[in-house]
Amino acid sequence: MTENNLSETLIANDLKTRFVGQRTIYYPSLTSTMETARQEAQQGAEEGTVIIADEQTAGRGRLKRVWLSPMGNIALSVILRPSIACLPPLIMLSSLAVMHSIKAITGLKPQLKWPNDVLIRGKKVCGILIESQVQASKVDYAIIGIGINVNLRLADFPEILPISTSLFHELGKEVARVTLVRHLLVEIERLYLALSAGESLYEEWQGNLVTLGKRVRVKSGETVHEGIAESVARDGSLLLRRPDGSLTTILTGDVTLRD
Ligand code: BTN
Repeated sequence: MTENNLSETLIANDLKTRFVGQRTIYYPSLTSTMETARQEAQQGAEEGTVIIADEQTAGRGRLKRVWLSPMGNIALSVILRPSIACLPPLIMLSSLAVMHSIKAITGLKPQLKWPNDVLIRGKKVCGILIESQVQASKVDYAIIGIGINVNLRLADFPEILPISTSLFHELGKEVARVTLVRHLLVEIERLYLALSAGESLYEEWQGNLVTLGKRVRVKSGETVHEGIAESVARDGSLLLRRPDGSLTTILTGDVTLRD
């Protein structure tokens, strides 16, 4: 079996970052890393602090959904303190960081689904949740929550089987979580520094979205939109061409590919 332990020392020892992950707090079990990260952020935790748990008992997904978070997966939250201009592109940053890291560590070729799911062969391998606190146009903190199905045995969770996959399922062998986490933290910092220096992540993010050009159904709040996902705007919103020819901008939602 692959060495599969997580610990603060294993993650942070000789980690090639300036600040992301330099302070990592590990818990065997938490309700949600988002909750603990929020408390840490409110108490002044420095930028780059990472909260990571072996399992979450009340993992949170987007749109108030539950996120399944058993042992063997990766569940972590990173506290950042970006400028207001860098807040919307954190969606692009986090999905690209996960995509690059999975590719580098496993050789698999993930794709992105708007707004920030990471897929392998059309099935979800990672979900990302971003929460922030902004006051008077100043970001107090942003928390990037990342959940990756790493060594998850899908047969144990038939309810997610139709739409989800795991790295174990794709590769037929376990992946060392600590290696993936360390790569991910380096990648998050690299992209964050690039973004903060004024570089755009938009082109690469857009280029990896499987959603574009497809017939989609988008559930946004209580509204369901259908049409062709034509493009994404630089702020990350989706531009949907409806059957009547009009173009709708969707800020957030849940996409089902129809083709
Ligand atoms: C989604 O696709 O709905 C987003 C899922 C985000 C899950 C991660 S796991 C780490 C962090 N803690 C949580 O409770 N949620 C995020």
